[in-house]
Amino acid sequence: MAEVLEQIEQLSKEAAAELKQVANVDQLEQFRVKFLGTKGKVKDLMSLLGQVPREQKPIIGQRVNAVKQELTEGYDRRKEELAGDSSGGRMTVDVTEPGVAVEMGHRHILMKVIDELTELFGRMGFAVASGPEVEDEFHNFIALNIPRSHPARDPLDNFYLQSPKAAGGGSDKPSGSNQMLMRTQTSTVQIRVMEKQRPPIRVVIPGRVYRPDTHDDTHLSMFHQLEALVVDKHVTMVDLKSTVIQFVHAYFGPNTKVRFRPSFFPFTEPSAEVDVYFEDKQRWIELGGCGMVHPNVLKAVNIDPEAYSGWAFGFGIERIAMRKYGINNIRLLVENDIRFLRQF
Ligand code: DAH
Repeated sequence: MAEVLEQIEQLSKEAAAELKQVANVDQLEQFRVKFLGTKGKVKDLMSLLGQVPREQKPIIGQRVNAVKQELTEGYDRRKEELAGDSSGGRMTVDVTEPGVAVEMGHRHILMKVIDELTELFGRMGFAVASGPEVEDEFHNFIALNIPRSHPARDPLDNFYLQSPKAAGGGSDKPSGSNQMLMRTQTSTVQIRVMEKQRPPIRVVIPGRVYRPDTHDDTHLSMFHQLEALVVDKHVTMVDLKSTVIQFVHAYFGPNTKVRFRPSFFPFTEPSAEVDVYFEDKQRWIELGGCGMVHPNVLKAVNIDPEAYSGWAFGFGIERIAMRKYGINNIRLLVENDIRFLRQF
């Protein structure tokens, strides 16, 4: 009997030592087959029972069962440990498999259009400028020759801010206050550029503008404009028209029809609106306004209107993007639907 018990202890030790060495699921399976399988070593121990005298059978039987249980528990524990280790203890990188492609994000379609526009105007000799979206009345109105009585300054048409008021302020009568607001047009940056830089000036200004408009297929309360400003000696309306025509032909195609309609803006004289004809829709689409910089605007920034002249335009960038890429609802541009954005 001592011999049989010795054999059992021997197996128990051997199995425990091997279990310690198990490093992965394959080895664990080998361990199971070797010790706990139907032809395994524990099963062999059971057959020893036949060789021992009847009265010893319970003792030996108990001991074999205890060892079997020990090993089964050890096996289960190891199995769980290996499952927790997601690699299963194995090298799971199969270098022959094609890799998982990492999906790259990309710029928003509107940002791409802005890049395209500034690049195109860059090639025409324009620098890029920018200014603040929170503006004061001086830059949004006063310096742009928009008097306090002008309907464009109506509180219903602007996002005026409660505070703080800008320091200093325009001498815009009667109150002389200089309230802050979200800029309604990128024309504000014309003033900011001319305050800092003397002519010759040749800049484009892409940027966000804000208006309390009701959202629909073609309107948002925040949208983008591309402003342009050229100030130099002997600048004429011919420069303005030829630049706009060149731009339209370069961006929308060389046969795109362009027309200028007489219009009015306080900061330009004469003023015009620019329409582009789209053959597919068989209609004129308005890009925005333009004109020769009003002498009062040049005076507001201490540029002598007798010595210098300038032209400017302000176009809607969403309009341009929608026409260029066949987008029929402006809201798509701000809804962040990945299925839409992926197309560009
Ligand atoms: N600021 C005008 C608007 O938002 C657009 C505009 C018209 C800009 C004529 C200009 C311009 O620079 O010359 O409606």
